[in-house]
Amino acid sequence: MLRHGGNAFDAAIAVGAALAVVEPYSSGLGGGGFWLLHRAADGYQTMLDARETAPAAVLLSMYLDDRGKPIPGATRQGGKAAAIPGVPAGMAHLARNYGRLPLAQSLAPAIALARDGFKVDPRYANIAKLRERFLLSGINTARIFLDGNQAPRPGYLLRQPQLAATLELIAREGSDGFYRGRLAEELVAAVNAAGGVWSISDLKSYRVVERAPVKFSYQGATITSAALPSAGGITLAQTLNILEQFKISDARAPASAHLVIEALRRGFQDRALYLGDSDFVPVPTSKLMAKSYAKSRAAGIDPAAATPIDRLGGDTPIQSESGNTTHYSVIDAEGNRVGATLSINFLFGAGVVAGNTGILLNDEMDDFSLLPEVPDGYLLRGGAGNRIEPRKRPLSSMTPTFVEDGRGVLVLGAPGGSRIISQVLLAILDYMNQGEVDLMRLVSAPRYHHQYWPDRVEIEPDSFSAEWRGALAARKHTLQIGGRRWGNMQVVFRSRRDGATQAASDPRGLDLGWY
Ligand code: DON
Repeated sequence: MLRHGGNAFDAAIAVGAALAVVEPYSSGLGGGGFWLLHRAADGYQTMLDARETAPAAVLLSMYLDDRGKPIPGATRQGGKAAAIPGVPAGMAHLARNYGRLPLAQSLAPAIALARDGFKVDPRYANIAKLRERFLLSGINTARIFLDGNQAPRPGYLLRQPQLAATLELIAREGSDGFYRGRLAEELVAAVNAAGGVWSISDLKSYRVVERAPVKFSYQGATITSAALPSAGGITLAQTLNILEQFKISDARAPASAHLVIEALRRGFQDRALYLGDSDFVPVPTSKLMAKSYAKSRAAGIDPAAATPIDRLGGDTPIQSESGNTTHYSVIDAEGNRVGATLSINFLFGAGVVAGNTGILLNDEMDDFSLLPEVPDGYLLRGGAGNRIEPRKRPLSSMTPTFVEDGRGVLVLGAPGGSRIISQVLLAILDYMNQGEVDLMRLVSAPRYHHQYWPDRVEIEPDSFSAEWRGALAARKHTLQIGGRRWGNMQVVFRSRRDGATQAASDPRGLDLGWY
């Protein structure tokens, strides 16, 4: 796209659309996401909020049995799991307002990949194997994503002609092609036949919202990140503000890791207490992001020991599995940049391909908090702010982020559900600690995570020595070694000195399995 005269925004559309075809388990037209934008000409920065919305007819009771207990799987599979997609509107908005090329041109590579097919890679083959039963029990999923009821082998040519036709319709008609007319009718009929409660007006009234990104400073660097309905930017700001009180150098050194974990516990506690879609609930964003508030939270941290969960110092807390998502980062020669994190939530979303549209629907309804004591698929608990409401956007952890300092600008992000926030946090701390920028080290470094509840530190397998674990245990942390590594971070860096760019992909992207 860049070679054809397009800019970073056109490239971001092309990449997002192509990923929707070749990594259908991660993101797609049936999902939502956030595009964080920087326009070089005037420095304008914005976040395109293309997050899914709950259908207007949604009721909490749809997800509960007659004893008031959650119905297993109701938010994760079938028509009830799917919220109104935002990605098609997001792409059309990006093309119309920021791109230079017509949507038809940016979508062309994805159309070709869907129509002519692509060769399944080992990662697709393994993820399809992992989800074989899910795909067999889904609607239209086995026929499209499997090969004769089995996960395809690497090298299998996977064609999606119906998705190609849908992409062509969007290329011709823009977002109306998706949200109005024949396609909209087909989506509604298919979702409702699968147990959902969508209406034509849910689709017609879907809007992309441009939101002011979260912006703050950390040790002289300017950080720009996702605004609500993602918790990402606010939680990142809170944890970095707390850590600024301590001056972290090596975030992997046990004494510093302890402080990072303590900051994460406090940040995620506030996420559970206060955050939700700010169009629906009042959120004390500036209070949460204030340096003075961070100072008071930092004062409660004991450098020698983990604070017991009931004494973390937030207000009284109100009362895993893994999935997939995609992140990519783009910078063009002019300096336009995009950090995009897009998702259909868990692997292969709701397991419903709507009618003949080729569109695999999301299961983003699972990102709401059904009840205070009921954790979501990432074991996150939440409060009233993230309760299910008609037309509301579920709280997200997706954290596309820019970091700018004297050395240049870094665009980063990752999939990983709640672990996105700790990944981005660790990468920022690592970046700040690097003399010479080394992107490969940034994306490869071992990861630890804490999200307030469950009250334990999760670490990647084979990543931290027994000595390191002992040092954390001595500070009264409970450690849990995760079943697999997580994340698939994608970073681009542009040097301020000479404008040179470099990029790196997380080696975990080649890992087979879940993120
Ligand atoms: O918006 C969110 O926070 C989740 N739906 C993101 C899901 C995700 O990152 C899955 N990747 N492993």
